[in-house]
Amino acid sequence: MNNFQYYNPVRIVFGEGQIKQLSELVPTEARVLITYGGGSAQRTGTLDEVKNALSANGNREVFEFGGIEANPEFTTLLKAADMVNEHNIDFLLAVGGGSVIDGSKFVALVSSFTEDDSKNNTVSREKAWDALLSGCANIDTAIDLGAVLTIPATGSEMNNGGVVNHSERQAKLPFRSPLVFPKFSILDPTKTLTLPERQVMNGVADAFVHVMEQYLTYPVNAKVQDAFSESLLKILIEEGAAVKADPENLETRKNIMWTATMALNGLIGTGVPQDWTTHMIGHELTSLHAIDHARTLTIVLPSVLRELKDSKKDKLLQYARNVWNIADTDLDDDTIIETAIVHTENFFRELGLPVSLEDAELTESAIDPIIKQLEAHKMVKLGEHGKNDLAVSRRILERAV
Ligand code: NZQ
Ligand code: ZN
Repeated sequence: MNNFQYYNPVRIVFGEGQIKQLSELVPTEARVLITYGGGSAQRTGTLDEVKNALSANGNREVFEFGGIEANPEFTTLLKAADMVNEHNIDFLLAVGGGSVIDGSKFVALVSSFTEDDSKNNTVSREKAWDALLSGCANIDTAIDLGAVLTIPATGSEMNNGGVVNHSERQAKLPFRSPLVFPKFSILDPTKTLTLPERQVMNGVADAFVHVMEQYLTYPVNAKVQDAFSESLLKILIEEGAAVKADPENLETRKNIMWTATMALNGLIGTGVPQDWTTHMIGHELTSLHAIDHARTLTIVLPSVLRELKDSKKDKLLQYARNVWNIADTDLDDDTIIETAIVHTENFFRELGLPVSLEDAELTESAIDPIIKQLEAHKMVKLGEHGKNDLAVSRRILERAV
């Protein structure tokens, strides 16, 4: 196991009816901006529940900013940042999924980047863009934020990262800062019952791939991280099928919700090599073709595993044995590995997710522009060995046709 530090300050408040805890969790004198997405929080009544909890005590002043898109848009987020300054907001409350939480984290980081000559404290689009290009490194202040999670998927509720999309520039870029760990996140599994099936399955797949990107590299004898990762994968396989068969089952929803959070709160990634190749190629697919985040991952992951099966051999065999119970000693290593990858594809297919570019109605002609964008975004040394250059990414995509 490699050396590591693990720090995660996020208070998790889990369970049915817990939104009322906002009255205790948000400072009583705060000037709060509630951020939300395209309308589901209003339709489902979650927004009203949040506002009621905030008005239950104290002297909070509450403002709202809706319309944060799935794959949150830079230009929309900058409008929210202007609103922060206009109303002297000192607490952001994100109500939604990864897009709203990520977007709010970005707002928290860039709202102090005002134009030098601005009378209205308008945030400088250029400074904010430069910050995103550098992954928001070296920012030393941010507004406090909390989250009410409505879709289990990204882990954003318990981590310090985010991803912002800039459609005009065809760029979807990650950032990270210790300043944007949420102060708290409320996880009420009943909120997930209103999700369309497509979003439920996206969430299961995103969490699955998060575990894989931290687990499927090479062994460093990290027994806690490996066993924990294998358990999370098995739970997602089991509960993915269960939620499809019985979407109303709250026990299943609870397990999916907590698993997705645990999949990307940093714990299983401590002291182990990681490989985020699937995500980095996936981001380009979203920004060029507007494919849902999770669906880009299910297209790319099987080909990543096949293309890199030699350098990942030991972990692929461990994955086959411990996650898919492929224990037939008569099989040669290549067959065991291929069987595990086919099981993975079948799992995604059963959830209704694409496993090839063709499944997403794309052809080989999609590959060149993706490679160009990977180059433009300096994604040229991906993987646990930093050896996945553009030629490797091209071969991965050719396998995914
Ligand atoms: O916008 P509204 O109307 O709210 O609808 C949303 C959206 O259309 C809907 N939804 C959410 N909760 C609902 C609901 N509909 C009905 N009932 C509910 N309870 O679901 C749709 C998808 O929401 P979104 O927030 O986009 O989904 P998700 O949580 O999958 O987030 C995806 C974003 O997170 C980023 C992705 O790149 C993508 O931009 N990621 C963030 C990560 C992180 N911060 O660590 C890691 C991930 O790898 C990922 O990259
Ligand atoms: Zn993801």
